[in-house]
Amino acid sequence: MASTSLSKHSFLFSLLLFFSTSPFSTASPSKVLPLTADFSPRTRAERLIRGLNLFPKETVNIETGDVDPSSLASRGKIVERRFQLPLLGKSGSSIQDLGHHAGYYRLPHSHAARMFYFFFESRSSTNDPVVIWLTGGPGCGSELALFYENGPFHIANNLSLVWNDYGWDKVSNLIFVDQPTGTGFSYSSDERDVRHDEQGVSNDLYDFLQAFFAAHPELVKNDFYITGESYAGHYIPAFAARVHQGNKAKEGIHINLKGFAIGNGLTDPEIQYEAYTDYALYMRLITQSDHDSINEMLPECKQAIKQCATQGGNACVTSYEDCTSIFNKIMDIAGDINYYDIRKICEGDLCYNFSNLETFLNQKTVRDALGVGNIEFVSCSSTVYDAMLTDWMKNLETGIPALLEDELKVLIYAGEYDLICNWLGNSNWVHAMEWFGQKQFGTSATVPYVVDGAEAGLMKSHGPLTFLKVHNAGHMVPMDQPKAALQMLKSWMAGQVAMAGADSEIAPS
Ligand SMILES: *[C@@H]1O[C@H](CO)[C@@H](O)[C@H](O)[C@H]1NC(C)=O
Ligand SMILES: *[C@@H]1O[C@H](CO)[C@@H](O)[C@H](O)[C@H]1NC(C)=O
Repeated sequence: MASTSLSKHSFLFSLLLFFSTSPFSTASPSKVLPLTADFSPRTRAERLIRGLNLFPKETVNIETGDVDPSSLASRGKIVERRFQLPLLGKSGSSIQDLGHHAGYYRLPHSHAARMFYFFFESRSSTNDPVVIWLTGGPGCGSELALFYENGPFHIANNLSLVWNDYGWDKVSNLIFVDQPTGTGFSYSSDERDVRHDEQGVSNDLYDFLQAFFAAHPELVKNDFYITGESYAGHYIPAFAARVHQGNKAKEGIHINLKGFAIGNGLTDPEIQYEAYTDYALYMRLITQSDHDSINEMLPECKQAIKQCATQGGNACVTSYEDCTSIFNKIMDIAGDINYYDIRKICEGDLCYNFSNLETFLNQKTVRDALGVGNIEFVSCSSTVYDAMLTDWMKNLETGIPALLEDELKVLIYAGEYDLICNWLGNSNWVHAMEWFGQKQFGTSATVPYVVDGAEAGLMKSHGPLTFLKVHNAGHMVPMDQPKAALQMLKSWMAGQVAMAGADSEIAPS
């Protein structure tokens, strides 16, 4: 019994935020380890990715052969091409000639890396804000969000593309990037280009933005927002701080950064790992006595996180292993639940089935339209995931107060049924964060977030900071609650989310 339950949960993956287990440090003496198990980090990450029903041919996008001369990647510094794919349904756009683009950018602070991106012009107005989306993992391509969450179109079961009535391109000029290098269609011929920390990640993103705005001078004056999900709770504060620093130092083109939004993110691990048992108890996944006994593992996890902060490197990998064992204990008890959405169960290893993404992007007509030539598509990279292990337990909350001080808007939102980056842990760090409005934020009222006249979430805000718990949603809010997510983005960017019950209608076309 014990060994069955252990083997079932020996490999936990998260879409965009993978957790894997270290059974050697967590197994109680009564538990028997499966003999055939291979717990090398790479094997773990590969299992995690298979759990999404994704089977990338390569573990990282390192292309050592010749790049197809027809590929955009074979050309200049930044090369962008307009593409058209057959689309079903109605765009609901007032703009006749919708610009959908795909491009490659040669990353200057790399040996040979090229970053792939999609850029979708707004369906409403060129003057709409520019929004960039980052998917987590670490190591998953942003195509997961594009095709299943907030992109202009979704993949139907028969592999047709269908307009998404709630695509975020309805209210923004929307960019999706594949990053860090080695993820999605982004690749290098040199393995040294795989990133290990937020400094590497945020510098590459900053360089990309500079090139993007140089290529699109008409968008420079627009408001700019950074958004993303899950492990992007790490990327986003670092990226925002990098842009802010570049602006202050007048490094390049001034980027009109107005704020950032993190959905079900991992930002402050110490606080968020502590919240697992409380959330699990609250949702009745575990009993009070489970809660109390699992909490005995907390001091070791917290101590390890402190060591990671001061020593870095291996101490961070150790903290990852120590703390993840808390999560694994909960899963041992909770059974086959889908930890991205505890209302659902996982069948075998499979919690979500995103296999159509790979099938779609590997079609020759699609590859030709996107101009990717012979570049592989690595939906999720276990190598990139591994490389970022030393970054995992870093606390990215510490950089946020300075950004709030300079009036950047910060929105932290979370679907209420996600366990892995649950709303409680996010709410806890948001409340614990020391900034000039901390006290007022703490005492401000929680108000309903209203969509179509009904409560779609609960919201709290003060000044530039907003926290939103989204009802009836798991880890991927724009997938589960597309309308509420689009309205959230629209009204937050317009400065209205803070208004109690703000209800700016977004009608489907
Ligand atoms: C494919 O699926 C879409 C959406 O369900 C549908 O509108 C379309 O007719 C289907 N196409 C074919 C060829 O069956
Ligand atoms: C996943 O989805 C694809 C496409 O709809 C389907 O062919 C396949 O059988 C599904 N896989 C599983 C394991 O359900």
